[in-house]
Amino acid sequence: MPRTAFLSTGFHVPSRLVTNDDLAQMMDTSDEWIVQRSGIKTRYWVDKGDTGVGLARVASEKAIAKAGLEAKDIDCIIYCTCTPDHFEPGNGVFLQRELGLTDIPAVDVRNQCSGFIYGLSIADAWIRVGQYKRILLVGAEVHSRGLDKTTRGRDTAVLFGDGAGAAVLGPISEDGRGVLSTHIFADGRYAEKLWVDGPGLAHDPFVSVSMLEQGVHRPVMEGREVFKFASTKMPESVAIALKSNRLSPTDVTLLVPHQANLRIIEMVQKAAGLRDDQVYINIQKYGNTTAASIPIALDEALAEGRLRTGDVLVLTAFGSGFTWGSAAIRW
Ligand code: ACO
Repeated sequence: MPRTAFLSTGFHVPSRLVTNDDLAQMMDTSDEWIVQRSGIKTRYWVDKGDTGVGLARVASEKAIAKAGLEAKDIDCIIYCTCTPDHFEPGNGVFLQRELGLTDIPAVDVRNQCSGFIYGLSIADAWIRVGQYKRILLVGAEVHSRGLDKTTRGRDTAVLFGDGAGAAVLGPISEDGRGVLSTHIFADGRYAEKLWVDGPGLAHDPFVSVSMLEQGVHRPVMEGREVFKFASTKMPESVAIALKSNRLSPTDVTLLVPHQANLRIIEMVQKAAGLRDDQVYINIQKYGNTTAASIPIALDEALAEGRLRTGDVLVLTAFGSGFTWGSAAIRW
């Protein structure tokens, strides 16, 4: 049975750079607070006319071109986002249309910050059984329009950025290379610890002026609970990835963790027993881009020459749900 290889990656962020000082003009916060608690210095936010699918299209076109392919070669799209352009249908079909494709499946994955690893797990299974040969796996988010950019929402608004990352995945039969394992987990007991309550069909009516006045359409988070779980579950999932492949921390060339918060990444690094040069960090530039953060970081790491053929790459993520997971890849 072949394994799944990353044939290429690509990413795209909108052009509007937002600094911590810019945020301090909108709400009661400061560069010092944001850097100290999260490590984030800048993020990119969409401008008028930008959409999540628009970001995803540019990232996808870059990845498809880097693979030496054309859009028509893609036989399946897996689109991971928790910030869809519309309530229905999912972003996958809109991206398919933007790429000029018809008939191929367009799957929507909505597992928030763990979306890319969930999507990779699905893609890996399909490629290994031979169902699809050129899967476009995309993580893309537009958070900025949904954030509460007043002092009320400052604990979440300062953390999130917009962006898109994409990968083209295909079978590889070369001995030993490719996705070695994926492990995905969830615990719905914590669903409301980081969530957007509405509009939603659990509400009757599903949207109302009073709901909007209460701000139920804004993300709310119990930051400390999220922090505690993320800094425990991500290292646990790294340990599972290593153990299931009989690898040790010294075998890891690069860990690309979901870029949630610099302090969380540092705790994951310490718990996983990895050196600084084994962990890729770019949260300072982009903030938390949820499902896009891993493919953006991976594409930047590759551009910097941080991975060579045969190296061991580990991915890990944690997010709303709670959901979390890991993947081990021999590059
Ligand atoms: N600027 C200034 N002050 C702020 C801000 C802000 N942006 N946000 C909150 N504060 C204030 C609070 O109101 C509080 O004030 P008080 O003491 O007067 O009540 C004070 O700062 C401390 O607030 P805490 O919430 O206790 O701060 P904490 O040290 O826990 O840091 C943070 C908050 C950064 C959100 C932290 O809990 C965290 O990183 N959690 C993880 C959240 C995360 O990464 N979420 C991303 C999504 S999920 C994922 O990707 C894993």
